[in-house]
Amino acid sequence: MPPIKLLAIESSCDETSAAVLNNELVLSNETYTQAVHEQYGGVVPEAASRLHIKNIVPVVDAALKKANTQLEDLDAIAYTQSPGLMGSLLVGVHFAKGLSQVLNIPTIAVQHLHAHVLSNLIKEPRPPFPFLCLTVSGGHTQIIICKSPTDLELIGQTLDDAAGEAFDKTAKLLGLDYPGGPLVDKYAREGDHTIFTFNKPKIDGLDFSFSGFKTSVLYFLQKEMRKDQQFIIDNRNDLCASVQHTIVEILMEKLVKAVKETGIKHVCIAGGVSANSGLRTALQIEGEKRDWTTYIPNFEYCTDNAAMIGITGYYKFLEKDFACLDLAASPRSNF
Ligand code: KG4
Ligand code: ZN
Repeated sequence: MPPIKLLAIESSCDETSAAVLNNELVLSNETYTQAVHEQYGGVVPEAASRLHIKNIVPVVDAALKKANTQLEDLDAIAYTQSPGLMGSLLVGVHFAKGLSQVLNIPTIAVQHLHAHVLSNLIKEPRPPFPFLCLTVSGGHTQIIICKSPTDLELIGQTLDDAAGEAFDKTAKLLGLDYPGGPLVDKYAREGDHTIFTFNKPKIDGLDFSFSGFKTSVLYFLQKEMRKDQQFIIDNRNDLCASVQHTIVEILMEKLVKAVKETGIKHVCIAGGVSANSGLRTALQIEGEKRDWTTYIPNFEYCTDNAAMIGITGYYKFLEKDFACLDLAASPRSNF
């Protein structure tokens, strides 16, 4: 069979991204991040969809050019169909459908969280099946058994906030800009995580909760700030280190439990929070201690990107799992 050339499009939140793949090989992965949301302390859906409209043609052009690929070379277009912000999703979905009609090629609908898991298949060595994946992003926290590229089982998830939200919301309490996750990571490197301790949830099974942790940080900071207005500024690095350490411990305790319960020792992480240096180090240390083989996507494939949509699209193409033209974008979904 000749190689399959795919164009992939991701527009579920505030990143407009396009990638070109030759089978599993990523030829290009171009992402335009929408910095406008920083001033509002979170993603403004209306602004996000307008910027996707503005950016989608240039980003697709850039991806094709970098991959030295013409539109006529494409065999299919993969796009993020769910979950995400409706207005943002619609831009990518309709762009993909329109272009597929012009080129007379099929489209492939991809579920964003499925794609985060498969971002671990982009580079060698690839995890063998079945593998476990802890997906940690701004909107989701899940533990998944990936039995094959297209057969995934959800075995644990957050009951309230996502891990990325826990980072971003506590960062906001510390006076840091949005998105706060990368800033907490940066300041944590200079801090001592043993100085402060915060509550960890007591949730049975493999599910997560971050709301109690967030409240414990809030109450602690309110109490200390009443005594000393400079408290946060003077202790920023240690506070960040302690916040990060607690979130990473909450995640790793459940991951250890998932390995024990399933017996699966090939362990991956995915999603924006997998860029976190504390989580990456903890996975490596735990893996060495417990004889796991661990996998972490390259940095550019941790946060939202079209390459992961492309690799998922490639495996769906092999199964001829093409989308109907009347398939609508969906803000919520499970695989
Ligand atoms: O997967 P992603 O790019 O978008 C969603 O699908 O949500 O994840 C974004 C999340 C944000 O909450 C951001 O703060 C977090 O990932 N994040 C980090 C780091 N880099 C991104 N959190 C902690 N440490 C980081 N280095
Ligand atoms: Zn994501």
